[in-house]
Amino acid sequence: MHDFMSWMQGSALGHFMRESGPWTYAIVNLSHILGVASLFGPLLVLDLRLLGLWRRIPLAALAGPIVPVAALGFAVASTTGVGLLATNATDYVGNPFIFIKFPAIALGLINVLALNRSPAWQARGVRELSRTENRQLAMMGGISLACWLTAITAGRMIGYW
Ligand code: HEM
Repeated sequence: MHDFMSWMQGSALGHFMRESGPWTYAIVNLSHILGVASLFGPLLVLDLRLLGLWRRIPLAALAGPIVPVAALGFAVASTTGVGLLATNATDYVGNPFIFIKFPAIALGLINVLALNRSPAWQARGVRELSRTENRQLAMMGGISLACWLTAITAGRMIGYW
């Protein structure tokens, strides 16, 4: 762990983050938060729909704009996150919140894969879903909320350790 963090800190990205002026970290941090907001905002609406709210709004209609915005948000959050980490990576060695945040992100991504592959999700906009399928979607919506809320909370807490 320490070796990896030292390598990150000494990388070209780490040098760039520390030595390219006082605004670099601030702008990358702001972009990280905008990425997180663009990921979580749309997902919150989708997850609540999967949990059973707003049943009259077709899932396919909601998923259309939500999926690309959330995917872009994730791409921005993860690229800027690597920059934030590289700035002073060794400071995070022993910080327990990184061991909560990254597994929560990994689990959230596994849940996205599982949702994508589920017959219930693939049938959206094609046919009526059964009660069992609606329950499966609700479970994945709940897992998604838990994962991303945990990642956000742990991400916020990292700086306070
Ligand atoms: C590869 C992906 C990511 C990496 C490497 C990463 C890394 C980091 C780092 C190093 C910080 C600064 C901690 C500090 O010293 O204060 C941070 C902050 C934060 N991250 Fe991430 N992050 C990633 C993705 C995400 C995602 C997907 C989320 C949300 C689901 C997230 C949520 C947050 C939050 C809420 C903060 C606090 C920002 C603040 O208070 O200014 N991060 N992240």
